[in-house]
Amino acid sequence: MKKTTVIVLILISFFNSVYADQPAAAYIARYKDVMTRTAWWRDARFGMFIHFGAYAQAGRGEWVKSNEHKTTDQYQCYIDAFNPTDFDARQWARTAKAAGMKYAVLTAKHHDGFCLFDSKLTDYKLSAKFNGRDVVREFLDAFRAEGLKVGLYYSIIDWHHPDYPNVGNHPQRDDKNYLTGKNINWDNYLKYMHGQVEELVRNYGKLDILWFDYSFDDYSGEKWKATDLVRMIRKYQPDVILDNRLEIHGGSSAKQRQVSYLGDFETPEQGIPETELVDVYGNPFPWETCMTLNGSWGYSEMDKNWKSPQLIVNCLVNCVSKNGNLLLNVGPDARGTIPEKSKEILSEVGQWMAKNGESIYGCGPSTLPKPDWGRYTQKGNQIFAHWLNTNLGDINAKGIDPEKVKMVTMLPSGSELSSYTSWWGNQDTGNFFINASNVPQMPYLYDTVIKIQLK
Ligand code: GLC
Repeated sequence: MKKTTVIVLILISFFNSVYADQPAAAYIARYKDVMTRTAWWRDARFGMFIHFGAYAQAGRGEWVKSNEHKTTDQYQCYIDAFNPTDFDARQWARTAKAAGMKYAVLTAKHHDGFCLFDSKLTDYKLSAKFNGRDVVREFLDAFRAEGLKVGLYYSIIDWHHPDYPNVGNHPQRDDKNYLTGKNINWDNYLKYMHGQVEELVRNYGKLDILWFDYSFDDYSGEKWKATDLVRMIRKYQPDVILDNRLEIHGGSSAKQRQVSYLGDFETPEQGIPETELVDVYGNPFPWETCMTLNGSWGYSEMDKNWKSPQLIVNCLVNCVSKNGNLLLNVGPDARGTIPEKSKEILSEVGQWMAKNGESIYGCGPSTLPKPDWGRYTQKGNQIFAHWLNTNLGDINAKGIDPEKVKMVTMLPSGSELSSYTSWWGNQDTGNFFINASNVPQMPYLYDTVIKIQLK
C-alpha cells in the first residue's frame, strides 16, 4: 500500500471513531423538540391514570371481554347496565390534586371500543344514554379547573369495530371462522380511528398528553398510518406530548433507543427500570412508569392486592431518582366512584407529598452513588436524601464534600440536622455523616427526607 493511502485510511478511521456515535443534525433537532415539549411533564413527575369504562360493570378488569372471549353481543349487558350516576369529575380532580399529582390521563376509549366521549362517528358511546353527558369533557373541565394538566388515553386496538380483525388479543382470536363472510376493510377502520383522534384533538381544547395503546406484532407504526396521524395531531395540538405506543420500540435497549417522530416518552408498565433510560447517544430519555394501586387497571371487585402508601412513595422516589415519572392508576367503579381504598392510599401519599414535594417536583437523579439507606434525588445544588430503609447509626452521605455543604435540614420540619466527618469514615468516597441520633426507626413516615443544601 502506498504511504498516502495508509495516511488516508488512518484519517478515515480516526474521523469515524470520533464522529460515528454523533447524532445527525436532524436527530439533535428532534431530541431538542422532545425535551422542550416534555419539560413541564418531567418537572411534574407524578400523575393519575384513570381506567374507566363499561367494563367496570363486570368488575373484573378492562380486559374482561378478551379474557373471557366474550362476543360483542355477550358484552352488551355491561354496556346496557353501565350508568355511572355518581360520576363527579370534580371529586376525582380533588383526589388527584390532594395526592400531589400534577396531571391525569383518562381512557377516552379502551380496547372494548366503548367511548366515554361524544364521538360523532359511533353510537357505541356513553353519551348516547347518559343524558348526553360527555365524561371526557367533564373530566377535562374539572381537572383543568384544579390546575392539573390533562391527557387522554386512546386505544388504537378496537375489539368492537366491525373492520377490526380478530388479531392479537381480540376476544374472538380463537374463532377460526370469525372473518368468514365478513368484508373487513382495514382502511375503513383506520379512517374511523384517525377520525376519532381528530375529534379529540379538535373539539376538546388544549390537550397536554395523548396516550395511545398499543402496538404489537405487525400492528405497529405505519400499519396505523402513524406518521399521518401524528402530523394531523401536531397540526391542532403542536405541544401535546405523545407516548411511544404507536410503534413497537427496539426492546427498550439503550443500544437502540432514539427519539422518534411518533412518540416523546417511553412507557414501562408495572415496573421500574433498573437505571435511568438514555438514548443511543447517552442522552437522558423521557420515561414514565405506569402502575396500578392493586393489580388491575379497570375496576376489579375482588382484587384486594393493594400496595401500601409506603410502597407508592418508594416507587415514586425510585422513578424520580432515575429521571422518570410515575403515572399511578385508579379504576373507578361502575357508579363512577374511585374505590375507597384507592382514596385512602392516595390521601396518605398526598400527606407525604405536602411535606416532601420539594424533593420530587423538578427533581431528577443525583450525581452521587445510590446509598444503602435509600436514594437521592437532586435539583441543582439541592440534594435530597431519601431515607427509605432501616439504617444503623447516622446517615452516611457518601460522595459529599463537607466543605461544599451549606446546611442540612429535615425537609418536613425545616429543622437543621447536625453533620460531621467521622474518624472512621471512608476518605476515598467522601466522609460526611448526618446526625440521625442513632434512632432505630425512620423519624417520619414512609420516607424521611433530608435536604442537603450545597453552597
Ligand atoms: C396494557 C393493557 C391495558 C392498560 C395499559 C396501561 O397495554 O392492554 O389494559 O390500559 O396497559 O398501560
